[in-house]
Amino acid sequence: MRSRADTLLLFGATGDLAQRMLLPSLCALNAGGLLDPNLKIIGTARTAMDDAEFRNFARAALEKFLPAERRGPIAEFLNRLHYQPLDVTNPDSFTELAAKVGPEGKRVAIFLSTAPSLFEPTIRGLEAAGLAGDGSRIGLEKPLGLDLASSREINDAVASAFPERRIFRIDHYLGKETVQNLLALRFANILFEPLWNAQHIEHVQITVGETVGLEKRADFYDQTGALRDMVQNHMLQLLSLVAMEPPSSFESEAVRDEKVKVLRALRPVGRGESVTGQYRGGAVGGQIVPGYDEELGRESETETFVAIKAHVDNWRWKGVPFYLRTGKRMPKRVTEILVQFRDVPHSIFKGVQTKPNKLLIGIQPEENITLSLMAKVPGLDRDGIALREVPLDIAMPDAFSGKERRIAYERLLLDLIDMDQTLFVRRDEVEAQWAWVDKIRELWGEERLTPKTYAAGSWGPSAGIALAERDGVTWHE
Ligand code: BG6
Repeated sequence: MRSRADTLLLFGATGDLAQRMLLPSLCALNAGGLLDPNLKIIGTARTAMDDAEFRNFARAALEKFLPAERRGPIAEFLNRLHYQPLDVTNPDSFTELAAKVGPEGKRVAIFLSTAPSLFEPTIRGLEAAGLAGDGSRIGLEKPLGLDLASSREINDAVASAFPERRIFRIDHYLGKETVQNLLALRFANILFEPLWNAQHIEHVQITVGETVGLEKRADFYDQTGALRDMVQNHMLQLLSLVAMEPPSSFESEAVRDEKVKVLRALRPVGRGESVTGQYRGGAVGGQIVPGYDEELGRESETETFVAIKAHVDNWRWKGVPFYLRTGKRMPKRVTEILVQFRDVPHSIFKGVQTKPNKLLIGIQPEENITLSLMAKVPGLDRDGIALREVPLDIAMPDAFSGKERRIAYERLLLDLIDMDQTLFVRRDEVEAQWAWVDKIRELWGEERLTPKTYAAGSWGPSAGIALAERDGVTWHE
């Protein structure tokens, strides 16, 4: 059942995510006429501030993080904003918050972008103040735990006040246009689905490379590492969307049922099927950057790179490896999926090497889809036909010029307000992700695996390259 919220409560409203993403996304939604005229947005955090101060704070964030042409009528947006200082341990704080929401606020969209340790007291406070009723829904920002056990604790705490159909676990990758486009590509075209299986696909590569290092979150990152920061959530979402069976509809339960089946079919990663790395000093994009230990200010064994050879144990994907890799301080920022098809079963072109087709789905920074095909090289060859691989290229911004490029959180905040769960992570899904990731960490513990070093600005340790190369596979660059 969908019902539009009339109030949006942002917990952690002075935090980094609010400044960079949430306030800019809401402002852009307002500019696009996508927020109901009476939608009220209330920010809360510990900091003492009144509405006017919060509006100034928001204005500064918008000026920094939202391009001027996307801001629209900024005063109109700022007028929607209110602020309530809040101490999660003090029940009176929640009574004051409920008073600020007012009696008309029966349909409240809550967004928790705070430390997970605050989730439980926040939920208790919301419940006691009557803000967790039937019209309320709650969005939860990562990290949702550090392993299966801690993720269950969070899920249990939330479930004690909200039924699953009103819980919105965020994975911001699902808000990205090109990620959603994967579903369109697979299920709105007849072309790919008949070939989308082990008979025709040789392997799949998923790469998420980042040029940044620790940024301002050294302690968080050092406790987390690349496996839990990127693979457990974003990369497994990409893998599920690539590997899932066709859902019967684009309804939230149908889509999520299919994704969770993929996660449950993931084979535990075996010995020699994963590689971890940690960057040392080097150069990224012509800039000299320090190594991880130097940035952190101490020695650490946290991985900033991970490569995994994964398998989905079902009929469709029998014997098809999924190579995953992600790292900080890579040579470029890139998220892409490469689907490598098998070669033709028999070449009629004697003595000419054909190359197997490839489908490259670029998610960022460029949104593009490239299908590489074999074609005849023009000319009057007398010694036989000459063939070459050529790209069939769709650059999404060109194909849809004039369409605004949206921030992932615009989609997700709108869906939270509208109560549409399709692009949010269900409890069984997040727990299946953790179950698989926990086993990898157990294996690393047993093997006493420590990260291999790599120079900042490279594609990770040589063992990461070898993980694919020993199977005759070259990572796409
Ligand atoms: C976050 C991770 O979830 O995703 C960060 O915690 C990472 O470490 C970020 O940098 C990447 O997101 P995007 O949208 O820039 O690919």
